Parts: sequence; structure tokens; C-alpha cells
Amino acid sequence: MSVMVSASSLRRVFQTKKRTRLLRSKKQTVTALEDINFEIYKGEMFGLLGPNGAGKTTTTKILCTLLYPTSGNATVAGYDVVKDAHKVRPLVNMAAGGERMLYFRLTGRENLRYFADLYDLPKVGLKDKIDELLGNVGLLERADSPVEQYSKGMRQRLQIARALLNDPIVLFLDEPTLGLDVHVARELRELVQQKVRQEKMTVLLTTHYLHEADELCNRIGIINQGQLLTIETPINLKNKFQINPKIHVVVGGAKKSQLQEIETFPGVQSIKIDVNSNYKASSKPVWDILYETITEDQISSTLRFLLEKPNVQIFEAKRHTPSLEDVFIQIIDQAG
Ligand SMILES: Nc1ncnc2c1ncn2[C@@H]1O[C@H](COP(=O)(O)OP(=O)(O)OP(=O)(O)O)[C@@H](O)[C@H]1O
Ligand SMILES: [Mg+2]
Repeated sequence: MSVMVSASSLRRVFQTKKRTRLLRSKKQTVTALEDINFEIYKGEMFGLLGPNGAGKTTTTKILCTLLYPTSGNATVAGYDVVKDAHKVRPLVNMAAGGERMLYFRLTGRENLRYFADLYDLPKVGLKDKIDELLGNVGLLERADSPVEQYSKGMRQRLQIARALLNDPIVLFLDEPTLGLDVHVARELRELVQQKVRQEKMTVLLTTHYLHEADELCNRIGIINQGQLLTIETPINLKNKFQINPKIHVVVGGAKKSQLQEIETFPGVQSIKIDVNSNYKASSKPVWDILYETITEDQISSTLRFLLEKPNVQIFEAKRHTPSLEDVFIQIIDQAG
């Protein structure tokens, strides 16, 4: 596997001014990145996840030459992003969610032509290429309307088309599906996946939609307060950070005291009991129980207890598989 992107001891500090009184301010230092180290392989989709302010955009901007690191270094396709920035730029592109990297008075097609000029793309075949990209993002019909008349989703699709114009070998996507409807978000994911599969494009994706990272990324780095906490495949993340098994049971006819007894069982960590409104028609009270145990065995012993009670009817019993979101929250909470 060849390394396409690398970050080594990357650090970035911002000097800001904090207003203390009306006309006075104090200098302040914000360390956005502490000591970031990672590698992304060719053809890989690497997810960078972290809470607001963790340093995802700062990392992305450094890697696509929009921002200098304070210290450390980074390379794309073997070129240093500072010293060889002019060599990196034609090889990369970036699309960020909710940003105005488009000219609103120009039409979609004119925007792509304008950016093609900026990227100095050859004129031969350009018209077809623009049409193909507009088709890929489903904008052919609206290609000649000004972007100011586009909806948010349409603008975001155009951003992706713009980001693919120069056939980047590394694409940086900073929250690309922010605020998009589920259909558009899915189409954009599929388009990017297709480019990765067919053209071996390498992608760095940041997103707050963890299911998106779970679905797309080969590996995920979790960043918090400028530090990378872990890098793993989504499956390994879920296995490594064992989360207590949870089970959701819906029972009818049980007495509240019987349900509360489960709480005293060895190994049961916590229990939540609610009236289940989905079974309103039933004459007896129907309860939703959600409990967390330490081991899988304790799930069956608790269920057996319920089954042995003649007054209790079990309607549903579901094991709750920990999601990437559960794991993410645990990792960030542990980091404090
Ligand atoms: N231009 C800037 N000037 C001063 N501080 C900045 C600047 N850009 C970013 N920061 C600070 O650097 C830290 C990291 O910001 P960054 O934008 O990289 O976070 P992020 O992980 O992308 O967050 P979000 O999920 O909210 O987009 C934050 O504390 C932020 O306030
Ligand atoms: Mg950001």
C-alpha cells in the first residue's frame, strides 16, 4: 500500500485577540493541533471525526495547502505541502459543506468553466467534461440557471462537481453532506465511492454524521482538542471499545415491582422502564424495559426471569448493537 497523504508531528497555533473591555483586547493563543500523526493510503477513504473545534478543518486546510502548519510537516503524493505547495495544488481539491466557494451570479455551468480556467484545464474536451460532471451530480437540467436560484442541496452538488473538475488524486471533503436531504446525501456518497473504486481516488472525509463515516471509511481517526486519540477501522473501533450489551424488551402484564427486581440482578448496570405507547390497545399495562448488563449471559438470565412469571408476556426482545456513535461518545467522554 502506498502512502498518499502523511501528517507528521503537525502542530498549528492561532494567535487571536480576546476583547477584554470596549476598546481593549488581550492576545490569546489557541492551539488547534497539538501533535498530529497519520497516514492515508492510496485509494483509501479516511474519516476524521471529532467534536466541534477538535481540529478537523485545520488539518484538512493544511493538507490542501490553504493553511501553513506552525511546525511539523505533511506530504501529499510525496510532496511537502509547504515547500512543494505548487506541486500539491493541481493534485488535490476540497469541498466543504455550507461554504460559499461558488459565484452566485454565474450559472452552474459558468461556475465550472470559471474554475476550469483557474485550474488551467485543457480546453479540448472541457465542454463534455463539464456536462458529464453536471450529469453526475444531477444538475444538467438546471445548469444554465444562476447559482443564487439553486437550493442548498443543489449548491452543494455543484461544489462536489467543482471539486472533481481537476480529477484530483486526493479529495478533501469537510462535512460535504451538511444539511442535505437524505437522498442527495446518499447520491453524493455514492458518487464519491464510485470515484474511489474506479479511479483509486484517495479521500479524507470529516463529518458529524457517524453513520456516513461508518459506511464509507476504511479507517477512522478520532480527534479531540487537537490530538488524535485513535486510528482504527470502523469494525475494530466497535470491537476494541467494548460497550456493555444493552437489551430492549417489551413486556405486557408485568408488575412494576417485578421489573424493578431485574435491577437487583447481579451484573445489571442500569435499567429504564417506560409505558409503551405503541401497545395502547392492550388492556394490561405494557412496559418498555431497556437494560444494560455486563456480560451477554446476564441478558439470558434476566429474560428467563421474565419468562417464568405467568402474568408476564414478552412482546419483543432486541439486542442493541453498539453503533459507531456509541463508541465515539465513549472515546470522547473518556478523553475528558
Ligand atoms: N482562523 C482562526 N483563528 C483563530 N482560531 C481558529 C481559527 N481557525 C480555527 N481556530 C480554532 O482552532 C480550533 C480548531 O478549529 P477547527 O475549525 O479545525 O475545528 P473542527 O474540528 O473543524 O470543528 P467543527 O466540527 O466545528 O467544524 C478551534 O478552537 C478554533 O476556534
Ligand atoms: Mg470544521
